[in-house]
Amino acid sequence: MRRRHATASTTPTGLVVRAADAADLEIVVALRLRLLAEEARNPAVALSLTDLHEHARQLSERQLASPTDVIFLATQRDAALGMLRVAVSRPPRLVRPQPYGFMTSAYVVPSYRRAGVLRALVRAGEAWCRARGLGEVRLHCTVDNAPGNASWEALGYGVAELVRRRTLTEE
Ligand SMILES: CC(C)(COP(=O)(O)OP(=O)(O)OC[C@H]1O[C@@H](n2cnc3c(N)ncnc32)[C@H](O)[C@@H]1OP(=O)(O)O)[C@@H](O)C(=O)NCCC(=O)NCCS
Repeated sequence: MRRRHATASTTPTGLVVRAADAADLEIVVALRLRLLAEEARNPAVALSLTDLHEHARQLSERQLASPTDVIFLATQRDAALGMLRVAVSRPPRLVRPQPYGFMTSAYVVPSYRRAGVLRALVRAGEAWCRARGLGEVRLHCTVDNAPGNASWEALGYGVAELVRRRTLTEE
């Protein structure tokens, strides 16, 4: 997962955060598969696709080409340490239909956690949203993801809505 790039921004810890482009496809796919492998432990996350790599590749390819998406990569000495996707989302609702930024695919490789990598990615994502006139950012995080929820709380993302689920069995 190494590739040389121009610097977009540098945090005090020496990380570089930049928007990925089409040439980063394999890096993005690799990080996404690592995230999916960790998420597979969660029953609320479906991982039933047989050809996960190919699906992740096609999805990442589409997102990297989309003008309403950005995937930020956090790198250090050209090694990819984390990713965060941000998309412009427009709710199909009559009430408050303003578009907002939606963050997904937040992932930091385990050996670099608690070093401010997500913080740097989120700040870049927020700047991207501000530059597009988006006044709000939302995201989903499963309730049993303690590190995830602690991170979002620390970064200023309060809980606004709960998704409830019930598994339906034959009666
Ligand atoms: C969640 C995740 C992205 C956090 O990334 P990270 O780079 O370690 O986060 P940061 O170092 O930027 O942490 C920012 C703040 O969040 C909080 N935080 C982060 N991880 C935490 C943890 N494990 N426990 C408690 N608080 C935590 C802290 O307040 C931290 O600031 P501090 O270290 O100065 O105290 C990372 O743990 C990860 O990739 N987990 C697996 C994938 C995942 O769950 N993604 C989120 C899906 S919603």
